[in-house]
Amino acid sequence: MAITITYLGHSAFVLDDGTHRVAIDPFITGNPLAPDKPGLRANDLKVNAICLTHGHADHLGDAADIARRTGATVYCSWEIHELLTEQGVKHTEPGNAGGRIDARWGWVAFTQAFHSSSVNGRYLGQPMGVVVRLGGKAVYHCGDTGLFSDMKLLGEIYKPDAAMIPVGDRFTMGPELATRAAELIGAPFAIPIHYKTFGLLRQDCKGFAPKGVAVRELVPGEPWRLG
Ligand code: NI
Ligand code: MN
Repeated sequence: MAITITYLGHSAFVLDDGTHRVAIDPFITGNPLAPDKPGLRANDLKVNAICLTHGHADHLGDAADIARRTGATVYCSWEIHELLTEQGVKHTEPGNAGGRIDARWGWVAFTQAFHSSSVNGRYLGQPMGVVVRLGGKAVYHCGDTGLFSDMKLLGEIYKPDAAMIPVGDRFTMGPELATRAAELIGAPFAIPIHYKTFGLLRQDCKGFAPKGVAVRELVPGEPWRLG
């Protein structure tokens, strides 16, 4: 079993098992790294599900528009579910850290993250990471977070095949802490995220060098096969 992972820059991804497509934090409009490719644009991306880590604009992104257009189910915090429902999104699956929700294509588990989550002063629940199981693979997208030692436990429990780890510093871990995070999680592959996008973030992932973990710096728009 295999999936393809397509990075859209920043923290945004599309996972595809050949039948189902799941987006994570689909921030496309206003994302300078988002690829201008058919099928990956905010107005033509087709997905069955959208997973959101938290409510900041660089993660919530185009989720409401995409969900309204495609009918995709959005997996998110209770508070984001309330916001999206007000915005006319029909299908949501609210949850909170520690919980797992089964889907017809796999499941989504929410983990804790050390960060914040609001939009225009409106509280949007606890920030989280998500573990997404699809096509026989599991990926752990850490969301925006600082380092925490339970990442080791989450790695043991969910056994992710790849981890998406923020390295851009300032609002999340930088390379040094992200290195420790990747080692704690112990997934065979680590994908650096949340860097390069804006001037306030680190412009490269230099120093992100976990021992025993292969770092895959993905080019936005180029699918990577996780087999
Ligand atoms: Ni954030
Ligand atoms: Mn962010």
